[in-house]
Amino acid sequence: MGFPIVRNRRLRGSKALRNLVRETSVSVHDLIYPIYVVSGTQVKEEIKSMPGVYRFSLDLLEEELKEVVGLGIEAIILFGIPDHKDEHGSSAYDHNGIVQEATRRVKELYPELLVVADTCLCQFTDHGHCGVVHVDEKTKRADVLNDPSLELLVKTAVSQAEAGADIIAPSNMMDGFVAAIRQGLDDAGYDQVPIMSYSVKYASAFYGPFRDAANSAPQFGDRKTYQMDPGNAREALREAEGDVIEGADFLMVKPGLAYLDVLRTLKDQFDLPLVAYNVSGEYAMVKAAAMQGWIDEPAIVMETMISFKRAGADLIITYFAKDVARLLRNNR
Ligand code: PBG
Repeated sequence: MGFPIVRNRRLRGSKALRNLVRETSVSVHDLIYPIYVVSGTQVKEEIKSMPGVYRFSLDLLEEELKEVVGLGIEAIILFGIPDHKDEHGSSAYDHNGIVQEATRRVKELYPELLVVADTCLCQFTDHGHCGVVHVDEKTKRADVLNDPSLELLVKTAVSQAEAGADIIAPSNMMDGFVAAIRQGLDDAGYDQVPIMSYSVKYASAFYGPFRDAANSAPQFGDRKTYQMDPGNAREALREAEGDVIEGADFLMVKPGLAYLDVLRTLKDQFDLPLVAYNVSGEYAMVKAAAMQGWIDEPAIVMETMISFKRAGADLIITYFAKDVARLLRNNR
C-alpha cells in the first residue's frame, strides 16, 4: 500500500497542538514604535499616506505615550520635523531641537520608556540629504561629503544623548559613522549609551510615505551614493562587519519585507541583536489594501511580524506596534 508513513499533518490537528510545536513567536517586548514629533502646539495631524500615524506637537504627546505604555510597548523611536532647515542641518544638533525637546518630554513623563533617537540630517537640511552637500562649480555635480558629515552626526548623537536618549540609531549611511559616533559619545561621557546602527539600509522606494511625513525628500538627486543598491546581499555583510568592528551594539536591516534574505544572512553571521525595520511604504501598502477590503489587516500584520522573527529579527521597528500589542493581548 502506498500510504505515507511521514504525516506532517499529525502536528497540525488542533490549535493546542499547533501552539505546542510553533517555532517562532512575537512578543510585545520585540516592538519599537516610531513617533513623529513636530514643533508648535495643538498639532495632531494624520499623515496622508499613513492612516493612523500622526505628527504630534509636544503638548499632545502625552496621550499617545500613555497608550503606548499602557499596551506594554517598551521602546519608541523618535523622528523630528523641525521648523527650521538649513544647509548644515543645524536643528539636528540644537540643544533645543525638536528631537531633544521631545526626548526630554518623554523622559519626564515616562522615564522607563526607552527612547531611541534616529540620528540623521535629512529632515533638518534644506537640500534633504543625509549629510553635507558640496556642489562642484565647474561640473555642477553635487556630492554628499562623507567626513564633514560625520562631524555633524557626532554632534547630533551627543546632543540626543544629552537630552536623555537611551539608544542612538544612526541612519545616515556615511562610511565610518559608528566609529565616529562611538568615539563622540564616549568622549562626552556617554559610554553606556548603545548604538543601534542602521547597518544595512537600501536606497529604497519603500521610504516614500516617511518622506511625506517628515518632509525629508532630497531636493535634487537621490540617496544612491550612500544607501545600498537593492541588488546587493554580499555587500550587506561588509556593511554589517564594519559596524561590528566599529562598536555597534545592534545591527539593522531596512526595509524589512523585501529584504528578509538579508536579515537571515546577518543573523547567521553575527551575534548582535538584529533589528528589522518594517518601513513606511510597507505600512502604507497594507493599510491601502485593508481600506479597500481586499485583505484581512490583523491577519496580514501578524503574519508579517512572524516572518520578520522567523527570518532572524530579534526586534521590529513597526508602525503597527500598537496594533500588534493589542492583537497579542487578545490572543490572535
Ligand atoms: C532618515 C530615515 C529615513 C527612514 C528612517 N530614517 C528616510 C530615508 O532614509 O529616506 C525611513 C523610515 C520609513 O520609511 O519608515 N534617513
